[in-house]
Amino acid sequence: MRKVAVIGMGNVGAAVAHQLVVGGYADELYLYDKNEAKVKADALDFEDSMDNLPFNVNITVNDYDALKDVEVIVSAMGNIRLLDVPNPDRFAELKHNRVQVEEVGAKIKASGFHGVLVDITNPCDAICQLYKETTGLPYEKVIGTGTLLDSARLHRAVGKFFGVHPKAVKGYSLGEHGDSQFVAWSTVKVLEQPIAELAKEKNIDLNAVDEETRQGGFTVFYGKKYTNYGIAAAAVRLVHAVLSDSKEQMPVSNYREEYHSYLSYPAIVGREGIVKQCKLDLTEEELQKLQHSADTILSKAQAK
Ligand SMILES: NC(=O)c1ccc[n+]([C@@H]2O[C@H](COP(=O)([O-])OP(=O)(O)OC[C@H]3O[C@@H](n4cnc5c(N)ncnc54)[C@H](O)[C@@H]3O)[C@@H](O)[C@H]2O)c1
Repeated sequence: MRKVAVIGMGNVGAAVAHQLVVGGYADELYLYDKNEAKVKADALDFEDSMDNLPFNVNITVNDYDALKDVEVIVSAMGNIRLLDVPNPDRFAELKHNRVQVEEVGAKIKASGFHGVLVDITNPCDAICQLYKETTGLPYEKVIGTGTLLDSARLHRAVGKFFGVHPKAVKGYSLGEHGDSQFVAWSTVKVLEQPIAELAKEKNIDLNAVDEETRQGGFTVFYGKKYTNYGIAAAAVRLVHAVLSDSKEQMPVSNYREEYHSYLSYPAIVGREGIVKQCKLDLTEEELQKLQHSADTILSKAQAK
């Protein structure tokens, strides 16, 4: 029995739950939201899709005791309207979300949950730390989607410039899931060729690719005032890695002792959460950017 929970049934949580249902990723799905009418409506809507789907999923609403036997919890709660301000910063949600995480984290702990918690709620890296503290889970069992989404945006942008599919692009955006993240170009390859070499050959300006990567998320956000499908795909990939113990390498937010912080850096994900932290051969400049990103996460989390 694959048991998965999604907490927060807004734009993101509903997209995650939908992908879990139509993709047949779970046998038991537990949905939670303070807005009971919304979560019940989504649950019924999913049940109405069951007759026309090749999979069955049993759905339960707002039962926190049931978390005891759940394998993966996805946190998608928050308040996206707080980001709809001029020059938004993902830390704009921290004050609000800290209170929600304290409340929900205590309920998760009380349930006896001992699986893996995947956090989407922003600011992702700071919220992972808060979940770790409030749930009492070990560091390796609290994982943030982090720059898994930003790396997918990078792969899309590189694919567009170089005329290849995003899957033909490897490499990472690292650090904060926020403004201080950066593309570690030394890790990026297109069809196995280092991107710096190929960019020279094809006379492509990597700054333009960087800009396209950064702007992608904003274009989606300002078009509809939220983003959901890209992040849902990232979160479900993580859920699947845990459920199937796939031991995939992914750039996710994980606690890095050397930076005293959660931040995105590739790690191997399996049934027990982060089963191994990877080691990249970054340039001196990239190492400095990563340190700056870690410092930013810690100082912003303390300031708010
Ligand atoms: N990490 C990423 O890459 C990424 C990408 C997109 C969105 N996000 C974040 O995901 C979160 C959700 O985004 P959204 O667009 O779905 O927001 P939203 O405002 O549409 O939905 C949030 C939902 O959470 C619910 N909620 C709030 N507090 C709760 C609590 N204590 N218990 C249960 N439910 C609670 C609300 O009722 C609401 O339905 C935000 O924090 C957003 O910034 C992260």
